[in-house]
Amino acid sequence: MKVIIPPLKSQGIKTKLVPPILELVREAASTGRWIEPFMGTGVVGFNAGFPRALMSDANPHLVHFYAGLLNGDITPSSVRSFLEYEGALLAKSGYDHYLHVRERFNRDFAPLDFLFLNRSGFNGMIRFSRKGLWNIPFCKKPDRFQPGYITKIVNQVTRVREVMTGDWSFTNGSFTSTLLSAVAGDLVYCDPPYFGRYADYYNGWTEEDEARLFALLDRTPAKFILSTWSHNAYRHNPMIDAYWSRFRIHRIEHFYYSGGKMENRNAVVEALVVNF
Ligand SMILES: C[S@@+](CC[C@H](N)C(=O)[O-])C[C@H]1O[C@@H](n2cnc3c(N)ncnc32)[C@H](O)[C@@H]1O
Repeated sequence: MKVIIPPLKSQGIKTKLVPPILELVREAASTGRWIEPFMGTGVVGFNAGFPRALMSDANPHLVHFYAGLLNGDITPSSVRSFLEYEGALLAKSGYDHYLHVRERFNRDFAPLDFLFLNRSGFNGMIRFSRKGLWNIPFCKKPDRFQPGYITKIVNQVTRVREVMTGDWSFTNGSFTSTLLSAVAGDLVYCDPPYFGRYADYYNGWTEEDEARLFALLDRTPAKFILSTWSHNAYRHNPMIDAYWSRFRIHRIEHFYYSGGKMENRNAVVEALVVNF
């Protein structure tokens, strides 16, 4: 299958998990809404094939970008013009222009500046400082926005807009109210920050959060799929035994390479927890 790749990137993007998640989506056979309280880049929801969807996140910048695309404030052609214009300035002034856009974004929080920073920042990462400001260094490639790269991003924008066919909405907020809106027939997909892992302004996650998520998912009338981590060579996720082992769990092993080196191959086992 060809996975739809979104225009926004992040270090926690679940592109590789889309195929096994979609197998569970088919099994759930839900006919209601797709509900995704931790949408991040949106890659899972954009591939889920639902005409009705509620996508939400605590990070307003992700939400404002996609809400703008849904309501027509952002279009493939406005993205192209913007990236061509700003990309030419980046090619001319390099890091100084990255700093200029970063300063402008940290003042005005415009969604297209967010896209620009996301696609010209280091490794496609998203991170905000304790003051809620963009905090990713430049990728050090002033000629980042070559015509082919801009076209690739514009095609991603076009494809993602095409899947928002029916009744889609994007909301900014914490997971509680999103989950409380789920009814029987809906399918909820949760991909919260992992307990005990890296945190930033929008990605803190405590055991109290995990307990609250469990309480809501345990009682939801909808079907749910939860992504979490199971274990690696050194550690098990204590939240599995504490909360999730009473549900059915699919474990999926995948590999990452620290520093991109073959000899630094590490296995991590992800868990997909379902209530059906
Ligand atoms: C692991 S990422 C989701 C990645 C997403 N599945 C993807 O593939 O791009 C977790 C997301 O949860 C959001 N988040 C963190 N705490 C939250 C909260 N309390 N309520 C709602 N969203 C939250 C973060 O902003 C982040 O986008």
